[in-house]
Amino acid sequence: MEQEILELRKKIEEKVKLIRKTEDLESFRLEYLVRKGAVQSFFDRMKEAPKERKAAIGKILNELRNYSENVYKELKERYEQGSQASPDIDLTLPGKRNFIGAAHPVNQIMQEMVDIFNSMGFSVAEGPDIEDGYHNFDALNFPPDHPARDMQDTFFIESKNNALLRTHSSPVQIRLMKAQKPPIRSIMPARVYRNEAISARSLAEFHQIEGLYINKGVTFAELKGTVIAFAKKMYGEQSKFRFRPSFFPFTEPSAEMDISCFLCGGRGCRICKHSGWLEVVGCGMVHPNVLKECDIDPEIYTGYAFGFGIERVALLKTGIDDIRLFYQNDVRVLEQF
Ligand code: PHE
Repeated sequence: MEQEILELRKKIEEKVKLIRKTEDLESFRLEYLVRKGAVQSFFDRMKEAPKERKAAIGKILNELRNYSENVYKELKERYEQGSQASPDIDLTLPGKRNFIGAAHPVNQIMQEMVDIFNSMGFSVAEGPDIEDGYHNFDALNFPPDHPARDMQDTFFIESKNNALLRTHSSPVQIRLMKAQKPPIRSIMPARVYRNEAISARSLAEFHQIEGLYINKGVTFAELKGTVIAFAKKMYGEQSKFRFRPSFFPFTEPSAEMDISCFLCGGRGCRICKHSGWLEVVGCGMVHPNVLKECDIDPEIYTGYAFGFGIERVALLKTGIDDIRLFYQNDVRVLEQF
């Protein structure tokens, strides 16, 4: 009999979990709590209980009755007080974890870069994603037969004459120099587009930050000082840098700055193509033709420009070794930032 009572208790406890609304509660009462209900029937059978166990059995039976009645009373009160408005809530289910949203890692890095350049006296400027050949190429001194103008490299917008998705942040320079008189000191965060195969190292849609400083007597030494100062703030004083001569149609002389590869510490890995160095910025002195095109006299003014790939900076900063991970929107990756 004791065993039976304990089993009934288990059954009642299970039933309680399933009560959702007044009707459930009522059938609970009819099944267990009425005069002819399952609990009461054990009281009727108490005379069968062996004499020496009577007290103990009586105790567990009383406990069972109290438990069932209390549950009933409590739920009845709750329902009467109107919590029945949401009767389908199962209060026994585990709680839901609330996810707290955060800025995307690439946005975080972009903001960090903007903050650093702001602190160095650069203001922020923007331009359109849909550009024309003039701002994206011609005004930047690209010769008419430059391969970047090819369909293989650039997304042209067929329905619009001469319209394209900007392939770099540099057209914003042109817009800025045409709109403002020197001195100009700005950075230009931009989403850019290239008709490229997507791989661990490159995407067809990514971000750049362009920098431009035009004034009287600006030198290449200032350019080097600025990008190194930035990179040290971003990556720490211990980072190593090197400048390599390079070519861009809109700067002369041109250079690229590399940073020692974070991932392998310079030993060589997949990401740095086993060279130990990663290119982080293209830069140079603004070409006189570009200044002229923007009505700035190259005999009076000089200036420098640089362009960072933001995803590249973010890879280095986060230690992620596949650029595609940024845009697969897998929360397990994004949550870590
Ligand atoms: N626009 C160049 C690129 O996309 C980068 C760059 C910017 C180089 C400014 C020099 C000066 O590769």
